[in-house]
Amino acid sequence: MFLDTDDEKVLAGEFGETRQRMMELLVALGKVFGAEKMIPISSAQVSGASYKTIGDWGLEWLQGLDARVSVPAVLNPVGMARDRWQEMGISSEFADKQNQILSAFQRLGVKLECTCTPYYLNMVQYGDHLAWSESSAVSYANSVIGARTNREGGPGALAAALVGKTPYYGLHIVANRRPEVVIQVSDAPKTQDTAWFGALGHLVGPLVGTRIPFFTGIRPSRDQLKALGAGMAATGAVALYHVDGITPEARVFHFDTTALEAIPVEPAAVDAVFSNQEVEVDAVAVGCPHCSPDELNRIAGLLTGKHTKKPFYVFAAKGVITAEQETVARIEKSGARVYADTCMVVSPALERYNHLMVNSGKALAYVPNLCGGAAHLGTLEECVAEATR
Ligand code: F3S
Repeated sequence: MFLDTDDEKVLAGEFGETRQRMMELLVALGKVFGAEKMIPISSAQVSGASYKTIGDWGLEWLQGLDARVSVPAVLNPVGMARDRWQEMGISSEFADKQNQILSAFQRLGVKLECTCTPYYLNMVQYGDHLAWSESSAVSYANSVIGARTNREGGPGALAAALVGKTPYYGLHIVANRRPEVVIQVSDAPKTQDTAWFGALGHLVGPLVGTRIPFFTGIRPSRDQLKALGAGMAATGAVALYHVDGITPEARVFHFDTTALEAIPVEPAAVDAVFSNQEVEVDAVAVGCPHCSPDELNRIAGLLTGKHTKKPFYVFAAKGVITAEQETVARIEKSGARVYADTCMVVSPALERYNHLMVNSGKALAYVPNLCGGAAHLGTLEECVAEATR
């Protein structure tokens, strides 16, 4: 693996022990994946920031690091809304540990913007090389924006942020970004609800595994693409997909897919992901991935004149909430709560419920494993109806 003079200096410890250790980690990763060199990145998104997921071991590891990031870096959602944790029912012991983790990241220069939708914060463009780690953010950056990132682990993304580079392999290389399987969707409904695309992603993930799918027969909006990618990343390992005529690389490169395996998907199979079993729902949670401004507006519209009878959680990036304060106030007038910094999966707050209703294919896959309760999928309208019934 080729290292330039600056890389060699970092590796020799000329820029401190922490950067040296981080460079060792990146070089080891590069060697495993056959990278020929290191490349500069324009930003990093670091997962593994919730005390719920990294615990005391992760906190101690972070506190032992001593360097500053070389590129803009943000965090994945943490275990609580930083300024509303008491209201969420988070214990002071958990909050204390979470705050120590946040302080450790802040000392490294990582911005305390804790979100899986950093692309709403104007930090990425077509062709940028990144080191992002949350699976839905990786999928969106690669597929919807046309940026280039592998699905980094938390330590790999942090190492890249501190060094400012990442090994050049995988999805950083244009030739590795071609479609590998075609998903032919027939008779897709003209629905505007994102949940259907989350269900499609939930269904397709296991069918494609690690391959790069090329979708035909759908024309999703950006929010629907977000839901599709999140669902596939959760049930498969899809870090990049293309949609015929929609996603940027499908429009730029005009891929020849005639020799690829084609998998047909019928709408009935997607509809089956929505279970309509009669269950007692304890709480409703939307915003997985974190809501866009449009999604917040839609939620506010649906809640106008209504009052929630069950806990209704909405999650979004702090920067989006700050920019959409009027909309957020309209949502909260109904009794629903809009929380920044955290989400239904990485916060312990939602573990107290036995059955959650969600509108996300990703949450449908993760809530049972990571929160202990059951989950079922509904459209946004159904989620609002359930919470206000
Ligand atoms: Fe984001 Fe949490 Fe869902 S990190 S994608 S809201 S599981």
